Amino acid sequence: MLFKKNKLNRQEAIVKVDTPEYQSYIDIKINLDFTSIDKKVKVYGFTSTMPGEGKSSTACNLAQVLANEEKKVVILDLDLRRPTTNYFFKLPNDVGVSDYLAKELTLDDVIKHTFIDNVDLITAGTHTPYPQKILVSEGLKKLVLKLKEMYDYVLIDTPPILASSDMINISSLVDEFVMVCYYGVTKKTDFDEAIKRLKNTNSDIAGIVFTKVPKKKATNSYSSYSYSYVKNKNGL
Ligand SMILES: Nc1ncnc2c1ncn2[C@@H]1O[C@H](COP(=O)(O)OP(=O)(O)O)[C@@H](O)[C@H]1O
Ligand SMILES: [Mg+2]
Repeated sequence: MLFKKNKLNRQEAIVKVDTPEYQSYIDIKINLDFTSIDKKVKVYGFTSTMPGEGKSSTACNLAQVLANEEKKVVILDLDLRRPTTNYFFKLPNDVGVSDYLAKELTLDDVIKHTFIDNVDLITAGTHTPYPQKILVSEGLKKLVLKLKEMYDYVLIDTPPILASSDMINISSLVDEFVMVCYYGVTKKTDFDEAIKRLKNTNSDIAGIVFTKVPKKKATNSYSSYSYSYVKNKNGL
């Protein structure tokens, strides 16, 4: 499979403020603001066709940008088969969403404060062989509703669309999806199939983020990050 070689990278880190990379995430945030002019978007889902395209990196770095604009943000890791958001914040994935739903835990037990003021994290938690059970649960719906009350933004790191059917269960929790594509690697046929599946679940797509764009191709000449806003959703 396409991304088999892409091993989990436990050295992941949030980019430093005042770097070209950080500026790229500001650009993404500005574009997202445009897509939500007509409606209040609180819950963004970050997805891709396959693992390793940059979902977690995009979600965690955008959280930093939003927090620096005085927004209160929580990241919810629902990529239950391959959770990594905790690495970005050097936090353990000891208890998280699976534990909150399976045991009698309070939100305080599972909300982790990160080193960035205003960015909290709920990790995936104890590994479960049946992620779908969690993803279809009423408890998860209620959790997201609570988080919407507590925070300005809920950023959900979601599973890749083509790797399992997990995503079908998440679409109802999300206001808008950000589709993350590995520049030059994500296959057009996979992309089309992923978009089709999102549309089948009536999901809204805020835009596409291209990651790992070669410098000479990037619109921002400094960086390997870029963003494309999908103006005509039907044209996808
Ligand atoms: N915009 C980017 N530019 C360069 N490398 C990136 C970018 N986004 C992610 N990466 C790298 O790609 C790899 C996979 O990213 P990750 O966010 O873990 O993907 P996913 O969550 O989709 O599996 C990581 O090593 C990460 O550092
Ligand atoms: Mg990930």
